[in-house]
Amino acid sequence: MQQPEEKKKFVRDKFASISSRYDLLNSLLSFQVDRYWRWKTTRQLSRFPEGAVLDLCAGTLPLSLELTRQQKKRRVLAVDFCEDMLRSGVKTLPTDDRRNRIFPVCGDGEEIPAPNNTFWGCTVAFGVRNLSQTQQGLNEMYRVLRPGGKLLVLEFSRPTNPIIKPLYNFYLNKVLPKIAGLVSGDKEAYEYLASSIAAFYEPKELLQMIRAAGFSSAEHKPLTFGIVTLYIGVK
Ligand SMILES: C[S@@+](CC[C@H](N)C(=O)[O-])C[C@H]1O[C@@H](n2cnc3c(N)ncnc32)[C@H](O)[C@@H]1O
Repeated sequence: MQQPEEKKKFVRDKFASISSRYDLLNSLLSFQVDRYWRWKTTRQLSRFPEGAVLDLCAGTLPLSLELTRQQKKRRVLAVDFCEDMLRSGVKTLPTDDRRNRIFPVCGDGEEIPAPNNTFWGCTVAFGVRNLSQTQQGLNEMYRVLRPGGKLLVLEFSRPTNPIIKPLYNFYLNKVLPKIAGLVSGDKEAYEYLASSIAAFYEPKELLQMIRAAGFSSAEHKPLTFGIVTLYIGVK
């Protein structure tokens, strides 16, 4: 069992090592379905067309981009503790006005660098699984949201459909690390992806933790046969 600081270092180093290939691998390995997942997540915030949204574990900024694409007045604070991931994202930002509405900041999701009651929305795509102290991170997300604000956690889950499950497991454990290893040069990073998905909470456990953080309502929606799940909490 890794200590929190050890896990943080491991995770940060892994993402740093694949940062320049992360977007390519994402599209390749998910057959571009990841775009649909981020679109669907962002749609949940359509009642908040203006004001600031926090994109936590923002990585190379794909969700920050979708958040600013869907609403022309929205501003996004994009926080990640891996500077290389943020830098890769900034390099490929489009030249339109979205680059002026995304504010990348290097910081820890378990100690969010923002005051209480700041944001109407907080999104975390494929980041919660990587936190060292999940509950601490969720507590922080609650703290920085305004009352009435929405938490959206998009995370991998384990499909239960008896036909999809073995196919998905074969792909995740055998095929994906090989392709990803070839493209990124770091097979271990994608073995970590498979093992972290296997070890992660069941949706009902994560929902309980979201409620324990203080969220008054919490629900989840499985997407694409439950390969990923979208969790929605309201403060
Ligand atoms: C799988 S990437 C997801 C990136 C992006 N959200 C996306 O949709 O593709 C996970 C990101 O979480 C970041 N991360 C993990 N633990 C973190 C923490 N404690 N604080 C801030 N960022 C963290 C990693 O550096 C990495 O960039």
